[in-house]
Amino acid sequence: MSDSAVTGETVLIKNVLLYGEGEPTDVLLGDGVIVAIGADAGKDSGPDAEVIDAAGQILLPGFVDLHTHLREPGREDTETIDSGSAAAALGGYTAVFAMANTSPVADSVVVTDHVWRRGQEVGLVDVHPVGAVTVGLEGKQLAEMATMASGIGRVRMFSDDGHCVYDPLIMRRALEYSSSLGVLIAQHAEEPRLTVGAVAHEGPTAARLGLAGWPRAAEESIVARDALLARDAGARVHICHASTAGTVELMKWARGQGISITAEVTPHHLLLDDSRLETYDAVNKVNPPLREASDVAALRAGLAEGIIDCVATDHAPHAEQDKCCEFAAARPGMLGLETALSIVAQTMVRTGLLDWRGVARVMSERPAEIVGLDDQGRPLEVGEPANLVLIDPDAEWTVHGPDLASVAHNTPYESMTLPARVTTTILRGRITASDGQARVPARNGRG
Ligand code: NCD
Ligand code: ZN
Repeated sequence: MSDSAVTGETVLIKNVLLYGEGEPTDVLLGDGVIVAIGADAGKDSGPDAEVIDAAGQILLPGFVDLHTHLREPGREDTETIDSGSAAAALGGYTAVFAMANTSPVADSVVVTDHVWRRGQEVGLVDVHPVGAVTVGLEGKQLAEMATMASGIGRVRMFSDDGHCVYDPLIMRRALEYSSSLGVLIAQHAEEPRLTVGAVAHEGPTAARLGLAGWPRAAEESIVARDALLARDAGARVHICHASTAGTVELMKWARGQGISITAEVTPHHLLLDDSRLETYDAVNKVNPPLREASDVAALRAGLAEGIIDCVATDHAPHAEQDKCCEFAAARPGMLGLETALSIVAQTMVRTGLLDWRGVARVMSERPAEIVGLDDQGRPLEVGEPANLVLIDPDAEWTVHGPDLASVAHNTPYESMTLPARVTTTILRGRITASDGQARVPARNGRG
């Protein structure tokens, strides 16, 4: 602690539990960093400091989402960088990765730089653009990855998400190219020849309901293939939205071989299973599909053991007309940013599978490490960037789609009462969300 008073915007968090452990303490933030921690942290805070009484609350590093669909450019009727940033801040996120399946596709530096700039203008969360692996997500020709990586948006993750990079030769070249650039390839693992017409998990439920099935092997065969391609290319590969017990087994095997492979699981695959299909409500339609209870159990165990590295939302807003229609015609995807922490609390913390330090690992630290962000997922220590989230672990709340910040309302958790709530999110020392309201900086260019 220096002798001089802290300058700039200062925030004093009082009586908070770091990682949910030990005794309550105070944390002073100023100039975008953690300035002091301890009972006397507030002594230099000055009269203008915003004081947060955080008794009973937990402080964690801000969450990092490796898989978000913000729909801008192209489908601003379902989400924008503005509305999606608000949803992210309310969900406790300080960085999100915006997937490339926009319109136009983010396969050029013009689009990726626009996404980064717009995110910075909004100022609620760092919106990192994901670049497409192939031109137009068509899987035929590699996109200009180097140009996107060296743009203002500094693209560090590439994915054709929504589509699989199914051609093994293209995937091999992408992996080779990515390792020379030092960037990450994230694969939507779906062998398309096995999922033609598929709308739901292939199993007894879909068979009885007459829904065309998406077999587990469509995911697992690509996970196995890409592990081998990464091994031979000496590259890293990241598996998006792991959904089956077999994928967990393959991850375990690949790690055992020393292969650089990481994986994420979504909140919905940790909570929901294919029994949700009974109503034929397309809010439950998602890629990969909701699987069986045995898969859910394996994914939870894999996350607890660190075989699955992290939680990523796959936040996928869709318009009412694209969801409220017959199951086969509906678009796949569900909202996730504002409910992620509560679903993780319900499935992993309340079950005793993870403590709050473990939540920091899977929602903040590992995702930041996987993608190489050095200002996120950092330890709660003096001098570290003040990218933080405060959580009330005892709160309960009931989800209502129209109350969420997203333009679209397609939440699968409608009317469910969930545990734990984000109370405050802080980006570089500035409060971005507090008690259910996003706090837009004055200069964000709105209105
Ligand atoms: C995503 C979307 O809507 O863009 N949909 C989904 O069901 N997950 C694409 C994707 O993540 O595959
Ligand atoms: Zn996907």
